[in-house]
Parts: sequence; structure tokens; C-alpha cells
Amino acid sequence: MKKLLVLILFTISLFGQKFENLAPTPPMGWNSWNKFACNVDEKLIMETADAMVNCGMKDAGYEYVVIDDCWHGERDSLGFIQPDPERFPSGIKALADYIHSKGLKFGIYSDAGWKTCGGKPGSRGYEFQDALQYAKWGVDYLKYDWCNTEGLNAKGAYLTMRDALYSAGRPIVFRMCEWGQSEPWTWAKDIGHLWRTTGDIGVIFDGIEGHGSWNSLGVLQILDLRKGIRKYAGPNHWNDPDMMEVGNGMTISEDRSHFSLWCMLAAPLMAGNDLCDMDEATIKILTNKEVIAVNQDALGIQGFKCFAKDNWEIWGKPLSNGELALCFLNRTLETVKVDYDWHEYLIKDDEFGHQYFFNKKEYKIRDLWQKKDIGTTEKRFKANLPAHDVIVVKLSPKK
Ligand code: GLA
Repeated sequence: MKKLLVLILFTISLFGQKFENLAPTPPMGWNSWNKFACNVDEKLIMETADAMVNCGMKDAGYEYVVIDDCWHGERDSLGFIQPDPERFPSGIKALADYIHSKGLKFGIYSDAGWKTCGGKPGSRGYEFQDALQYAKWGVDYLKYDWCNTEGLNAKGAYLTMRDALYSAGRPIVFRMCEWGQSEPWTWAKDIGHLWRTTGDIGVIFDGIEGHGSWNSLGVLQILDLRKGIRKYAGPNHWNDPDMMEVGNGMTISEDRSHFSLWCMLAAPLMAGNDLCDMDEATIKILTNKEVIAVNQDALGIQGFKCFAKDNWEIWGKPLSNGELALCFLNRTLETVKVDYDWHEYLIKDDEFGHQYFFNKKEYKIRDLWQKKDIGTTEKRFKANLPAHDVIVVKLSPKK
């Protein structure tokens, strides 16, 4: 009887947990899908890891190199998944070792259904075996998709994979990707480290592109889509508005806005462009350490819209040490004149209990794109804000 109890307790301790503290700040890295879709092979992944180091992204905090869909070959006679032998002739373990040798981490992709979205073998029925394989290969991050899951319960399916990963014993960040359909923010805190909140992003700033059975969404559409979910996000459990499209064809202003907004939202920062072929402007956006620091702030508070005028608005994100990041966003295709009297408005974050009374306390203002101190909240804030562009400032209480 005693032995049985010990066995039961041991089993419980093996299952039923998510790995703790793997994502205290939003994960940063690169994912192959947005740019390369199914055209992935080991050369691309290795060169991307090299580029992440060489262009300064690693130094700026990017860490995970993630292969999305289509790396798969067949299962072997025992049921263990193998990579496509032509695209990954050296095997996944060798690839993971290479990425680790660069001081980076390695991520992979699977799907809770029978097949992935790209029609490759999914993990349904093989969860524990796949988790074992990933642990053996040295995987650090798993993106787990939701195609071909008809009849499955999302919570059950993601719990199963969480338990499988935990029992395989290698700490792996678990990124859930069911597009927000079953409101994972309300139930997934103890299951995933991050969960997609919406459908797939496209290379669109403002608009929607239809593809028959699904749509890709623009930056502003994703920004507006899920109201009231910021209270569910925080350290080790992030709302994920999808991988980024910076460098994939929007204008510089739009890329800067997209990146800034993802930082304000405490979103995981997964670059989705070709790191081996980036222009200076793209590198500058992706590696702006002052804006990244807003995203990576230890409080882990997701930003919110705190002021709106006809054609521009302000997003705010409370930061540590009583600081506050603000992002002035121009949604329109015309330059707008921003004229903001700090004393007229106070900023209140009721959900996380932060208040900023500019009429009672003076704050220093730093422009995080210009990397310049630009005065204090004693004076009105006036600026020209170009089409689809942002100004991001950090306010620090004046001593
Ligand atoms: C889904 C996901 C994407 C990508 C593709 C791969 O659409 O949402 O991010 O992983 O599948 O097929």
C-alpha cells in the first residue's frame, strides 16, 4: 500500500507541470515561417544562426532559432519522428548542437493534430514519443500548432503535450498556437509559456488579406482584435500576437511601428525575416536596445491604449522603477500634428494599479528612436508624426 502511494506521488510529480521560469521576459528569437514557409533546410537554419550573431541580434537579446513547419520526414519503424533526410541530412541533433555552439537556443515545430498545417506528421497519439525525441535532440522551444484537430479539446491537447515535455525531462519553452480560438489566456497559464492570440500575421500594416478558408491580418488589426486580455499576461505566460514581419516589405515607418507596438504589448519578439539579407534600416529597428528594454522590462506588463484622438493615439506600458513607456501612433496615411498637454491628462492603469499624475510629478522624457533626452513633462509635447509611424518615449520620475 505504501509502495503504491509512493508510486502514485512519484507519477504525479513527473506529470502535470509546466517548466518553471523559462520565460520571465518575452522570448526573443527568429522563426522561419513568415519568410520561408516550407522552404527550410539545415543550411538556412545554420546561416540564420550565424547571422543572428554577426548582425548584433544576439547581443541585443535574441536567443531562439526556431524551425517552423515542414522540417519533418517520416516516423521510423518504432514511431519516432525523423527529419526530411534531404533537407536535414546531418540530422536535427547536429543542427541543435551547432546552434548551441553559437550560444543560442533551438526551437522546433509540431501540431496537436494528425497532421501539421503543412501536411506533415502531427503529434496526435505520439505526444510522449515526440517529446522524448525533442529532448534527445536538444530542443529548447516547441511551437505547437492547431491544424487538423477536429474533435479535439484544446485544453486537453495542450495539457497532454505539456505533460509529455515535462516527463521527457528537458526544459522546453512551450508556445501554444491555436490562434486564440478557445481563449487560451483564460486557461493556459499553467500550460504554456506563450499562446497565440489571433490568426496569422501578414506583411500588411492596416488591412486583411483573404486566402479562401483563412485570412492574414495586418499589424493594426492584430493590435485591435483582442480587447481585455492584457490582465492574463505576465512573466512566464505571455499573450503572443504572432511572429514579426519587420524587414519583409512594409515601409520603414510601418516596420518601426510594428516593432514598437510589439514591444509595448510585451509580445514575444520573434523576427520573421531573412536575417542573412537585411538592410541597415531593418537591423536598426530589430536591434534598438532601448525599445527592446521596454519589451523586456521585468514587470512584464502588457501595454494598453491610454489616449485616443481622431487620427492618432497613445499606448502606455508601466515599467519598473516608476517609469512609463509611451508610444504615439499615427494610424493614418497623413502626417499628424501631435500636441499633448501632460498636465491635462493623467495616465491610469487600473488593471495593474499604476498611476502617473503629471500635474503633481515631473518626468524626464527620452525619445527611444532618436536616442535623445527631449525635456520634461512640464512643457506640452509637440511633434509631427509621419504616416503610419510612431514616437516612443520613456518617462522617468524626476528626482
Ligand atoms: C499556422 C501557424 C503559422 C505557421 C503555419 C505552418 O498557420 O499559425 O504560424 O506555423 O501554420 O504551416
